[in-house]
Amino acid sequence: MLASEFKRRRRELMRMMGSDSIAILPTAPLLIRSRDVHYPYRPDSDFYYLTGFPEPEAALVLIPGRKQAEYILFNRERDPAKELWDGFRAGQEGACSDYGADDSFPIGDLDDILPRMLEQCERVFYVMGCNPRFDKRLSEWINTIRSESRSGMHGPVEIIALDHYLHEMRLFKSRSELKAMRQAARISAKAHKKVMLACEPGVWEYQLEAEFVHECSHLGAKAQAYPPIVGAGANACTLHYIDNRDKVEDKQMLLIDAGCELDCYASDITRAYPVNGRFSETQRLLYELVLAAQDAAIAKVNPGNHWNDPHDAAVRVITRGLVKLGILKGLVAKLIREEKYKTFFPHRTGHWIGMDVHDVGDYKVDGAWRLLEPGMALTIEPGIYIPAGSKGVAKKWWNIGIRIEDDVVVTKEGCEILTKDLPKSVEEIESIMGA
Ligand code: GLY
Ligand code: MN
Ligand code: MN
Repeated sequence: MLASEFKRRRRELMRMMGSDSIAILPTAPLLIRSRDVHYPYRPDSDFYYLTGFPEPEAALVLIPGRKQAEYILFNRERDPAKELWDGFRAGQEGACSDYGADDSFPIGDLDDILPRMLEQCERVFYVMGCNPRFDKRLSEWINTIRSESRSGMHGPVEIIALDHYLHEMRLFKSRSELKAMRQAARISAKAHKKVMLACEPGVWEYQLEAEFVHECSHLGAKAQAYPPIVGAGANACTLHYIDNRDKVEDKQMLLIDAGCELDCYASDITRAYPVNGRFSETQRLLYELVLAAQDAAIAKVNPGNHWNDPHDAAVRVITRGLVKLGILKGLVAKLIREEKYKTFFPHRTGHWIGMDVHDVGDYKVDGAWRLLEPGMALTIEPGIYIPAGSKGVAKKWWNIGIRIEDDVVVTKEGCEILTKDLPKSVEEIESIMGA
């Protein structure tokens, strides 16, 4: 992502904030896994969206219209001894020269400097409740200013939800964001193909997971957007099964929901196929039903349609199909009204996707589903899951879990399928797996 893009985002946010305002946004903390080993570090998405700054222990401050500096970055100081072990730090000089800050201070100086900045402002834009330690510090700074009110300082009078503004911006993907998402999707599609080729009776779920992660890393995407879900047979009926520890057997269906993260942008793809590469009649009937639901849902991803239109379309196709197969019994309209399809299709058809796999952005505005607009990116992922023991359902359907998931972005004309490189028809899957 170019420096100019981060700058444009900060500008846009500052324009919305107006004068006499300050925005404060810390990045994610570095978390200890055990003893002195940390979890792999990932910056906070909101923070990274505005800064492109990858290091932990940093906070962004924006003060629109402030003469000395509008964009101030608090970050770690250079430290040769620490850098010998953990690598390069940009320091205060780098914050300005490489990340476009107008001014930068050591993160350890926050308590001294920030109250002086806060007392000049009427409104504080801040994300409350995400970082309890930082929330506490902010209230302490505000109290400090209040306690000095006799000296004429009154300090901020309003705290405004920064996320409300930021998440609306993040909902609409720019050209360079879509480029990153396309690339993440391309890598994930390649990795899914590798898994298809490696899948056969006797292989273990974790070996298929390893195949996926290996290919992503090999292609430069070292992080996953979420833990891969790889389950065969009954395991495919657990929506977020991440144990991935069983042996994959002949005649089962495999479900793999996995997507890499690239430059802090997610991909999210699910495919389901027979472990032995040939659909049985039952597997094919259910699979083609989910595929038809997905097609119907994708056809509804058009500007001007409601967020919920794709889901409604998927529900109609699945309910009708389940009745036809004898898995649901009754009148389609009534089954939909009473949400009986939820026994087998218990989740929604998708979610926003972007820097986070379940990305930010409101789904409703003033109580009504929002309209789809160009630049919004979402997943389309209907599914059918029939665990063993499902009441009134013939045994031949048991232990099949199918979800088909692609990532799409709304365009002026309709939508672009970011994950289109990965085949999903019965014929394509059988031909890849038979090869
Ligand atoms: N991979 C999680 C989801 O599809 O929402
Ligand atoms: Mn998803
Ligand atoms: Mn998924």
